[in-house]
Amino acid sequence: MKLSKRSQSLTQSAIRSASSRCNQIGGINLGQGICDVPIDNAVKEAAYHAIQDNHNLYSDYAGVEQLREAIAHKLQNFNAINVKDAREIMVGHGATGAYVSAAMVLFNPGDEVILFEPFYGYHKNILALQGVDVHPVSIDLETFEIDWQGLEQAITNNTRAIVICTPCNPSGKVFTQEELTRIGGLAKQHDLWIITDEMYEYITYPGHEHFSIASLEEFAPRTITLSGMSKTYNMTGWRLGYAHGPVAVIEKMGLLQDLLYVCPATPLQHAAVAAFQLPESYYENMRAEYSEKRDIVLNAMEDLNLTATAPQGAYYIMADVTSLGYKNDVDAVQGILEGAKVACVPGSAFYANPTENKQWMRICYSVDKEKVAQAMDNMKKCLKKS
Ligand SMILES: Cc1ncc(COP(=O)(O)O)c(C=O)c1O
Repeated sequence: MKLSKRSQSLTQSAIRSASSRCNQIGGINLGQGICDVPIDNAVKEAAYHAIQDNHNLYSDYAGVEQLREAIAHKLQNFNAINVKDAREIMVGHGATGAYVSAAMVLFNPGDEVILFEPFYGYHKNILALQGVDVHPVSIDLETFEIDWQGLEQAITNNTRAIVICTPCNPSGKVFTQEELTRIGGLAKQHDLWIITDEMYEYITYPGHEHFSIASLEEFAPRTITLSGMSKTYNMTGWRLGYAHGPVAVIEKMGLLQDLLYVCPATPLQHAAVAAFQLPESYYENMRAEYSEKRDIVLNAMEDLNLTATAPQGAYYIMADVTSLGYKNDVDAVQGILEGAKVACVPGSAFYANPTENKQWMRICYSVDKEKVAQAMDNMKKCLKKS
């Protein structure tokens, strides 16, 4: 029996395969961006209540009203985005669902979209599934500089959008206001959409602050801002994310979501309101915890003489594996998994041309601190021996 052409391109991602192998050998998973720290009790309580209170039915396709209000409040206060109308916001099936809806509403097959490279794999793969051509523009992993000339050259008559990820998975770059203004200026000049994935917006390190391009009135009418509950509140399995943008786009995204998934889980949407009520100290503690874990990994990299630029945000480090003596990144990751029982991801998974980018591996330090420290000890023992 034949399958569709589209399904033939579907394979398990490098991240998921590393995770399965890691589970098989009982290793520490620094591959997948999953935080196994429990969610806050207030949010758990809210989930029990939401179920007890019988919030059992489909919600509005754009999400539960109270949750959209909480998101509007957060967008105004944290992101400094001027929300003028509730219809500018939709709750999605994770930020992933919102990104799928945005891509399907904005692009046609054959359109071109610019991604900064290294990029989050889903950003490319969802576009590719739709027949959209991805044009990568590089970010230097040692300096976090954008290739501005490359960006201007990548824009053609078929370009429809620039996708930004800030703080960035996998590089850890936090785009500055100046950089975003320059990108916005190009988008305006060439009449492009901007999709900005701000999933890690609350995870920034001293000296770096998150900035939302949609807070600049000049660019808001062409910007779709995505974020979600997964990383900030350790709720990856709840599948709740959201999008903000011009009403005309968000309404279509909501209609598309209605068609694809009807709505995100209603009781969990009700419960998620509690997450937005957590005190400022919640975010401060989270940042402090991630700073410590970042330093544990950076110290280990230094000890091993591996080049790795300190992330400015998010919870990933790209480390240069060249000096380890393996043939390439895939072999290095394999060697570390078997020798140290630690899963990382080959850096080539984050490039449009994997064969030319075999120098890096991505280490994710989202799991609890003891596991991160143990993983670094294992790595040091294994790599210093070999
Ligand atoms: C940049 C980025 N966006 C989105 C997601 C997924 O978000 P969600 O769980 O809300 O679908 C991830 C998960 O790793 C991510 O790294």
